[in-house]
Amino acid sequence: MKTRVLIVDDELSMREFLSILLEREGYEVLTAADAATALSRLASNRIDLVISDVQMPGLSGLELLASIKQQTPDTAVLLVTAFSTAEQAVEAMKLGAYDYLAKPFKVEEIKVLVRNALERSELKRENRLLREQAAESEMFVGIVGRSPRMRELFGLLRKVMETASTVLITGESGTGKELAARAIHNGSNRKHKPFVAVNCGAIPENLIESELFGHVRGAFTGAVGEHPGFFEQANGGTLFLDEIGELPLAMQTRLLRVLQEREVRRVGGNCTKKVDVRVVAASNRDLAELVRGGDFREDLYYRINVFQVVMPPLRERIEDIPLLVEHLLRKHVAAGNGTISSEALKALMNYGFPGNVRELENIIERALVLNPERITVDTLPAVLRGGERRYESAGGVQIPDDGIELEAVLEHLEKQYLQQALAKAGGSKTRAAELLRMSFRSFRYKLSKYGLGPPDGAADAVRN
Ligand SMILES: Nc1ncnc2c1ncn2[C@@H]1O[C@H](COP(=O)(O)OP(=O)(O)OP(=O)(O)O)[C@@H](O)[C@H]1O
Ligand SMILES: [Mg+2]
Repeated sequence: MKTRVLIVDDELSMREFLSILLEREGYEVLTAADAATALSRLASNRIDLVISDVQMPGLSGLELLASIKQQTPDTAVLLVTAFSTAEQAVEAMKLGAYDYLAKPFKVEEIKVLVRNALERSELKRENRLLREQAAESEMFVGIVGRSPRMRELFGLLRKVMETASTVLITGESGTGKELAARAIHNGSNRKHKPFVAVNCGAIPENLIESELFGHVRGAFTGAVGEHPGFFEQANGGTLFLDEIGELPLAMQTRLLRVLQEREVRRVGGNCTKKVDVRVVAASNRDLAELVRGGDFREDLYYRINVFQVVMPPLRERIEDIPLLVEHLLRKHVAAGNGTISSEALKALMNYGFPGNVRELENIIERALVLNPERITVDTLPAVLRGGERRYESAGGVQIPDDGIELEAVLEHLEKQYLQQALAKAGGSKTRAAELLRMSFRSFRYKLSKYGLGPPDGAADAVRN
């Protein structure tokens, strides 16, 4: 690629003189007789250096310089004038000119200046690229990470964004599946259209069909008006089907048809409507295993699994923990001056994080309640402090001499966990179920089993 120089001067003889000189030096030369033409040349060509006169009809060279620094800051600018004043020179340098040269100038002088200006702009461009790459490797559309696993993920997400394919995001709870789904939408050409997130596990089974595909008036008792389903609401945009493994088989069949035919029929209706929706599905259950067990349609599995994005668990990218902590501190400490002690960071890096980034975020938030500015070991949960592993009780279990009724003991324990999860999740059943790594459906079932609440979850089903 040849280096390209743009010469801006209202005087034809000057343009010709510089053109010949610079072409002989091996540069490709473009010319413009005024600033406006120069700007349009700059908009449609990559220009490495602009050599501009200062006094010109219309916009002056200084004004041209100012717009160039705004639009293409990497382009070097050299100003040339016949009426140079010290003030103008200072002004030009302040605006970011590479140099300011008085006419008449010597041929050697301009050659050297051009060479140096180009070297500098090349350096600047390289530095900027390096800076951008560095920033990107740590944070890609809101997803923090710089471990090899995360870099690989960013590369894959970038590819996925360019396509309209269905995507399946898998990974343990709290690994950022929803974050990735939103990133895919925001990085695609559908970003100005709706992103509709639906938790398939949270919609009561008898309402799933009408929620997804809509219903007409009077389709069933209670269907008082027309209702567009999530597919129609997401038209032109992205539909995020979270916990897709929770969809009942009959709904899987319906979904498959919609994906194949790209049209929906509202419940009770008899006409179909074309929809243009990109589906991103997510599951923290192993769908292939559900397929083997007959709980997930194989053909649907292949249909949604065009691209699979696997979110790595946090324990496989421990090196990202300091960066994540920094990010979460910025997120949760309003003044932006939150810190962490090195022992606390060490304790975090030694922990296994079964709940992944969500658990890390909860731990940070909790610690900040105890001390709003600094995270220290004593503000961390006991499991991290002692270094003991979770899921292993310290003393082991005790069976009294006359034995125990295991079933009842376990039920009692289970009930306590359910209640505590609900309290911790501020009453959100979806969140509570997540805390216990249970599907929404089984959580709801257990709640009603212990009389802890009526089965209902529609309010939790849709986010955004
Ligand atoms: N790489 C990351 N960088 C920054 N924040 C993250 C990252 N991964 C997850 N988070 C944060 O952790 C929380 C959980 O993420 P998210 O809801 O996307 O997880 P998930 O995989 O959908 O979990 P689940 O399977 O339980 O629904 C969110 O607050 C999210 O912003
Ligand atoms: Mg999720």
